[in-house]
Amino acid sequence: AIDIKTLRGTANIITIDPGYKNTGSCESAITFLDGEKGVLRYRGYSIEELAEKADFLEVAYLLIFGELPDKAKLKKFHNDIKAESHVDEEMKKILDGFPKSAHPMGVLSSLTSALIAFNPSTVDVSSENDMYHAIVRLLAKFPVLVAWALRKKKGLPLDYGDDTLGYVENIHKMMFKRPNQAYKTNKVVIDALDQLLILHADHEQNCSTSTVRIVGSSHAGLFASISAGISALWGPLHGGANQAVLEMLEAIEADGGDTKKYMAKAKDKSDPFRLMGFGHRVYKNFDPRAKIIKKAADEVLADLGIDDPILAIAKGLEKEALEDEYFVKRKLYPNVDFYSGIIYRALGIPTEMFTVMFALGRLPGWIAQWREMRLRGEPIGRPRQIYIGEKARPFVELDIR
Ligand code: ACO
Repeated sequence: AIDIKTLRGTANIITIDPGYKNTGSCESAITFLDGEKGVLRYRGYSIEELAEKADFLEVAYLLIFGELPDKAKLKKFHNDIKAESHVDEEMKKILDGFPKSAHPMGVLSSLTSALIAFNPSTVDVSSENDMYHAIVRLLAKFPVLVAWALRKKKGLPLDYGDDTLGYVENIHKMMFKRPNQAYKTNKVVIDALDQLLILHADHEQNCSTSTVRIVGSSHAGLFASISAGISALWGPLHGGANQAVLEMLEAIEADGGDTKKYMAKAKDKSDPFRLMGFGHRVYKNFDPRAKIIKKAADEVLADLGIDDPILAIAKGLEKEALEDEYFVKRKLYPNVDFYSGIIYRALGIPTEMFTVMFALGRLPGWIAQWREMRLRGEPIGRPRQIYIGEKARPFVELDIR
C-alpha cells in the first residue's frame, strides 16, 4: 500500500492523471464508498439503513455535523432553518428577467449566486458559528429557489413556505401548491421524495463536489461554491444524466420501443451515443442506490396506480445490458439516475427539473464537504500540468503576420 502522507506536498513531482481517475484530492470523514463491493455509507451508516429509517433533514445534519441529531438538536436545526426561509423580494425581479424557456439549472445556479448580494454576511466565515449561520441560511433559501424555478416554468405565482410542515413536505408544497386550491399531502409521494433526496445527498469527490471544494478553497464563500457545484452537476455525464435518461427512454418509446437497436448504437464506437444512466466512475459491480431506487420506482408507481411504459423499456434495457458482453466486460451497470427520472415523472416533476432535484438532494453533501474543507484549513486547490505547447519564440508584429 502507498503511504499517502509521503506524497503530500512533494513539489518536484508532477503526476498526470486526466479525470483524476486515481488521484485523491483530500482526506475526508464524510462518505465511504467501495466501488467493487457496491458499498455506500454516510458517516459510517449504510445508505440502505438511512434510506429506510432516517429522513432527509436528519441525513443532512448527519452529513454536515458528523453525528445523527437527537430530537432536541433536530428541532433546533429545523427551527433555525425555518427562521431563515424568506428570500428577498428583489430576487423575484432577477427571476423575472429569465425567459420562460431558460433551463432551471442555469436559473438555480444564477439565483444561488445572486443570493450572496442579499446575504453578504455569509461570505467571510471566520468561525464555526459564522459557518453555521451561512449553512442554515442556504438550507432554508435553496428550496425556495428550487420551487420558484419550477413555478416559473409552469407559470404559477411564486410562493413561500409553510412553517408548520416538515422540511421535505414544505418543499413539495412550495413546488406544487396551486392558487385557490387547498394543498393535500400524499404520504407515498413525500416518502418517495424524501428517499430520493437521501440517496443523492453525498457521493464523495465527484465532479460537482470537487468543484465545490476547489472553489471554496479560494475562500470564495459557501453560496458561490455551491453555485459553481450546480453548474458542474448540470452536465449530462454527471447530474444531467437523469434528464438525459428520461429523454432517451422517451425517444426509444417513440421509435417503437426497440431496445436492441439502442443497445447496438451504444456499442458502436463510430456513434457518440451512450446508454444514459449506465456506467459509473467508481461503482464497477453495481450502484447500491440504483438497487434501492429500482424497488422504490416499482412501489411508487404501484401506489399511485401509474402504468408507465417507460418503466418496461428501462427494465428491458437493464436486462439486455446485464447479458451483453460489451456492458459486462466494461462493468457498465445502471446508476442511481437510471430509475430516478421515472419516479420524478410519477411525482409530476417536469423532465427539465430532474437535475434541479438532484441538486436539492446533493446540497447537504456539498455543504458538508465545503465545511470539512474549511475546518481542516485545506490549501487552495491548484492542479499542476505538463506543458505541451510551443517552445519560446519571438513576437511577430501584426502587420507582418
Ligand atoms: N454506454 C456505452 N458505453 C459506455 C457507457 C455508456 N453509458 N459508459 C461507458 N462506456 C464505455 C466507453 O465508451 C469506454 O469504452 P472503451 O473502453 O471501449 O473506450 C468504457 O465504457 C469506459 O468508459 P469511460 O468513459 O472511460 O468511463 P468513465 O469512468 O470515465 O465514465 C461515466 C463514467 C461518465 C459515468 C460513463 O459511464 C458515462 O458516460 N455514462 C453515461 C452518463 C451517465 O449515466 N452519467 C451519470 C453518472 S452517475 C452520476 O453522476 C450520478
